[in-house]
Amino acid sequence: MSDPSAVFARETSTRPSRASLRTAVVWDVLKDALDRRAEASGKDTLDVLDTGGGSGKFAVPVARLGHRVTVVDPSPNALFALERRVAEAGVADLVTGVQGDIRGLFDVVEREGFDAVLCHGVLEYVDDPAEGVRNAVAALRPSGALSLLAAGLGGAVLARALAGHFSEARHALGDPDGRWGDADPVPRRFTADQLTELAEAAGLEVGAVHGVRVFADLVPGVLVDTEPGALEALLKLEAAAAELPSFHAVATQLHVLGEKRG
Ligand SMILES: C[S@@+](CC[C@H](N)C(=O)[O-])C[C@H]1O[C@@H](n2cnc3c(N)ncnc32)[C@H](O)[C@@H]1O
Repeated sequence: MSDPSAVFARETSTRPSRASLRTAVVWDVLKDALDRRAEASGKDTLDVLDTGGGSGKFAVPVARLGHRVTVVDPSPNALFALERRVAEAGVADLVTGVQGDIRGLFDVVEREGFDAVLCHGVLEYVDDPAEGVRNAVAALRPSGALSLLAAGLGGAVLARALAGHFSEARHALGDPDGRWGDADPVPRRFTADQLTELAEAAGLEVGAVHGVRVFADLVPGVLVDTEPGALEALLKLEAAAAELPSFHAVATQLHVLGEKRG
C-alpha cells in the first residue's frame, strides 16, 4: 500500500492534516479500486454513486480524479453544503447532488447504472441495513466496486472503557445494536463479520476488509499536533494496522471493499 498521507494530500491538494487521519486509509483503498475499475472497463471516466454522500467529503476528491459522481442524500443542508464545496473545488461539472435515500434509491437513480458505489457512514442510521446494502449493490453494473464504511463495535467499546465509562463499554458489548446507552448518538454498530456477511448476502465478492481509526481517536491530540513527524508516523501505523484482522476488532470504523458478482 502506498503512503496514505501522501496520496490523500496529493488528491485533496492539502498537506497531511489531523483530518487525514479519518480518511487516509479509506481513500487509499478506494482510489486503488477506482483505478483498477477504470483500467478493467477501459474507461477514463467512471460513473460513481455516493449514497449518503453528505457534503462531499469523498465525492469531491473522487471527482478530482475525473470521475462523474452522483451524490444521493436526504438532507437538504448536506446537499447545499455539497454544492458550495463542489463549486469551490472547481468540479461542479462532474458532481450532481440529488435528494433521496438509500431505501428509495431507484426512485432517483438508475439500477445497474454505476461503476462504483460508496456507502460511507450510512448503514448505522437506516432502519434496514441489509436492504441498504442490497440497493447499493443493485445500483452497480456487473463487476462494479462497492465501498462500504460503517461504525465498528469494538472501537466504541474500547473508547468508552479508556474514557473511564466501564459500564457503558460493557453495555455496548452486550447490546444487539452495539450502543453504549440511551445517549449514544450512533444507532447501530457492526463487527467486521456482520458487515462482510451483509455484503456477501447482497451479491458482493468481498475483496478486502480494513480497520479504520484504530489508534487515531485514542491518541492525545496535542501529541499529534506538537510532536514533529508524529502525524506522518501515525498515518503509516494506521495504514499498517488497517490490514490486520486482529486490529479490525478495535477499529472505530470498518471498511469493506468488494466487487459485484458478474
Ligand atoms: C455520517 S454522515 C456521512 C456522510 C458521508 N458519506 C461521509 O463519509 O462523509 C451520514 C450521511 O447519511 C445521510 N443519510 C441518513 N439517512 C440516510 C438514508 N436513509 N439514505 C441515504 N443517506 C442517509 C445523512 O444525511 C448524512 O449525510
